[in-house]
Amino acid sequence: MEAVSIKANLPARPAYKASKYIVPNQQVPCEMIQRPRPLVAGNWKMNGTRSSSHSWAKYMSRLAATKVLGCDIAVSPPAPLLDLVARALGATTTIALCGQDCAPQDKGAHTGDISAAMLAEVGCRYVLVGHSERRNSHGETSTLVKAKASMALAYGLIPIICVGETQAERDAGRAISVVRAQISRSLPERTTELDVVIAYEPVWAIGTGRVPLPAEICEMHDSIRELLIRRMNKRADVIPLLYGGSVGAMNAEEIMSLQNVDGALVGGASLKDEEFWGICVTCDNLKSDSSGNMK
Ligand code: PGA
Repeated sequence: MEAVSIKANLPARPAYKASKYIVPNQQVPCEMIQRPRPLVAGNWKMNGTRSSSHSWAKYMSRLAATKVLGCDIAVSPPAPLLDLVARALGATTTIALCGQDCAPQDKGAHTGDISAAMLAEVGCRYVLVGHSERRNSHGETSTLVKAKASMALAYGLIPIICVGETQAERDAGRAISVVRAQISRSLPERTTELDVVIAYEPVWAIGTGRVPLPAEICEMHDSIRELLIRRMNKRADVIPLLYGGSVGAMNAEEIMSLQNVDGALVGGASLKDEEFWGICVTCDNLKSDSSGNMK
């Protein structure tokens, strides 16, 4: 595996910023604690042409150059458009590239698959693994997702591990246990708090215009945070937990203002440059103060 040389060429992940918190009812600042650096990631799925991708990237790079946001932004175009988007964003862009999937193998006879090394070489910082469209339409298990996430880590990519329950599982009262099991089985053993992102995307909310109640999102994200802390100890406080599923301009503020929601994984709305930029600005307004510290 030629992981080292490729990894060395990747830009470093931005440092986490500390926030000062007031302990409720005591009105005294407690120690500086770490907050996740928020992330808004756009997932184009199997959409986009060379022309639409080019104009999206030019629009976004122009705005990102004029307003530095206190959240990270990533875009996940289909693989044949990654290089075009990278070039249109430019070498100095703050918008990161994200693959939509990677193979669990290093390289070889795997027709149609894309390796983590290829994604790293084209300039990706992130890769989605375990998206429900792959878990459900391609029969991907959490064991496979874990192998893909491990390969991503080997090449210096940050896996965005996607999890979420179906409608039937939620109706049966199993949403929390299903998602906890998916995370436990999909997380590589040697994951650290700096090299993973979790995206909670209820399957029934993806592309449907339906979103869980705020209390349901909070309950799930609190449970995920608790699980990660149990597994990795306090350091897991800084792992970004994204919500995904029908996020758009209309509901981004309500969703991202929830505690333990550190950004969003945006599908359909990420194809519309203006709406996507608006969601990024909303995230910045909610999650970082004027000095760029996390709220
Ligand atoms: P959606 O997709 O925002 O179109 O619902 C989200 C996703 O699948 O990541």
